[in-house]
Amino acid sequence: MAIKALGYVVIGTQKLAAWRRFLLDVVGIMPAGSGPGGAELYRLDDRPFRFWIEPFDGERLLAAAYEISDAAALEALAQRLVAAGHPVAHGSPAMAAARGVDAFFRTSDPAGNGLEFYCGDTRDNVVFVSAQGVEGFVTGALGMGHAVVAAPDLAASHAFYRDVIGFHDTDVPRFYFGGGPPDDPGLGFVFMHADNGRHHSVAFGESPVPPSGCIHLMLEMTNLVDVGRCHDRMRLAGVPESATLGGHVNDEMTSFYMQTPSGFDLEVGCNGLVIDPARWQPTSHTRISEWGHVWAWQVEMAKAAAAQAEAAV
Ligand SMILES: [Fe+2]
Repeated sequence: MAIKALGYVVIGTQKLAAWRRFLLDVVGIMPAGSGPGGAELYRLDDRPFRFWIEPFDGERLLAAAYEISDAAALEALAQRLVAAGHPVAHGSPAMAAARGVDAFFRTSDPAGNGLEFYCGDTRDNVVFVSAQGVEGFVTGALGMGHAVVAAPDLAASHAFYRDVIGFHDTDVPRFYFGGGPPDDPGLGFVFMHADNGRHHSVAFGESPVPPSGCIHLMLEMTNLVDVGRCHDRMRLAGVPESATLGGHVNDEMTSFYMQTPSGFDLEVGCNGLVIDPARWQPTSHTRISEWGHVWAWQVEMAKAAAAQAEAAV
């Protein structure tokens, strides 16, 4: 069995119009029609859609969907999940057809984060044209990008994604945001690759699960100028920046983060590291970024500390 790639995401929202403006005007991807139940679809390459945005009683990443090599492997995965205590809900043939896949099911990880797995994908001849002039996205065998979720029980999530699903370790770091030991115990993360060259298709960190069920999604553009122009559009549209432009240590991505209408972040980057999944030796970094990536929460904490210091004078 192989996990081919991250194929698409399903997002539930009360803010369909805000998502439409965000994806079309800020990110610069393309409308791709509608799906059942009032879903709005968006594409960024030759897959009929990558974003499935549907009406929902709240704001949540309902599923990150990964393609499995074939029908037999998909069914074997469903059986492993059930045996491991994770119920699976098979999608109807009509819903599979709407997703452009042969078959799929939904399940969740130990933290309750939604997942779909499917086999039999679709490509078409529609040319990607961005109204914002985005040249394109790095997808193909590397998939849509990556999804990062929370894992309050890191060991349980690690065992689930590795032993039950079949992802592979890329980087198992501990990040120190507060100066390092002994005062700062750090935060454990796990970055895992599918059976393709993208550094990670899924990652999770030791933190409480946010209401949105997602830390961030990542899309990789083909060049730095398009990333910079997207950053400009974010600023001009008043979309909150979650982290400034920066470069990651582990996947070497040059990127920035902004807040989606559902509250989690979207990382937009370029020049990500492509690994040889057959030969990769897992790494263990202690820093998240080589440069930049100043997080909004770090700025707020620094401001609060400065105000406290001033009040104490
Ligand atoms: Fe990321």
